[in-house]
Amino acid sequence: MRKPIVAGNWKMNKTEDEAVQLTEDIKVMLKEGINADVILCPPFTALSAVSHSLRNTRIELGAQNMYWEEKGAYTGEISPQFLVNLNCNYVIIGHSERRKYFGETNETINKKVRTAFKFNLIPIVCVGETIEEREKGVTEKVVETHVKMALKDIDEKSCRRVVIAYEPVWAIGTGKTATPQLAEDVHRFIRTLLSELYSKDTAEVVRIQYGGSVKPENARDLMEMDDIDGSLVGGASLDTSSFVKIIQESIL
Ligand code: 13P
Repeated sequence: MRKPIVAGNWKMNKTEDEAVQLTEDIKVMLKEGINADVILCPPFTALSAVSHSLRNTRIELGAQNMYWEEKGAYTGEISPQFLVNLNCNYVIIGHSERRKYFGETNETINKKVRTAFKFNLIPIVCVGETIEEREKGVTEKVVETHVKMALKDIDEKSCRRVVIAYEPVWAIGTGKTATPQLAEDVHRFIRTLLSELYSKDTAEVVRIQYGGSVKPENARDLMEMDDIDGSLVGGASLDTSSFVKIIQESIL
């Protein structure tokens, strides 16, 4: 059985003080011993403070992006080593907002995924189609390309640790959640693809999150699907009780 994994992507929200407040509130509301991996992904400027606040808890820390070089003349970029030193275990790679607004490509995403593994960070690799692509009927083709290119030259041992987040772009921040069945179809497709690329055994251990307007009201129905192992939550992760409810609803 795959352990549920719920991550909050705070995007460009929360000052350092606000981020610490949210973290403290989540800590209070989240009972110890909850049987899920819970990850908070604040903006870079709040990572250090949130890391401090998460000490001695089971909640883990993730970053929203990083660069693929360890150090050097790359003004404005963030090194994987910086994240490791802040006790990050996870890093979101290739979010659709980064693909859309910051020119990330399948090639740069692959470099980042390879670097993440080199630094022992677990990449949460985001894949998913736009509304135009869905209407054209090329969802599977787009998702296949995203997955294959992101995992290019990634060995099987590393692949077993990757987290894939299926985030249909049309469902992000729009209130339009994919129906559980529609999401499940793509999740199943991704798992089949992983078994072709690696092995059935590896495909069975990789966790695939759904992302896009996840709320307390729809989290359970999504989680009840065989191939949905958790969620990558945007808006609702900024509200303590919504986020904690989503986590509770994710433990079946
Ligand atoms: P929303 O939950 O706000 O739709 O965002 C989803 C997302 O992009 C998480 O990475």
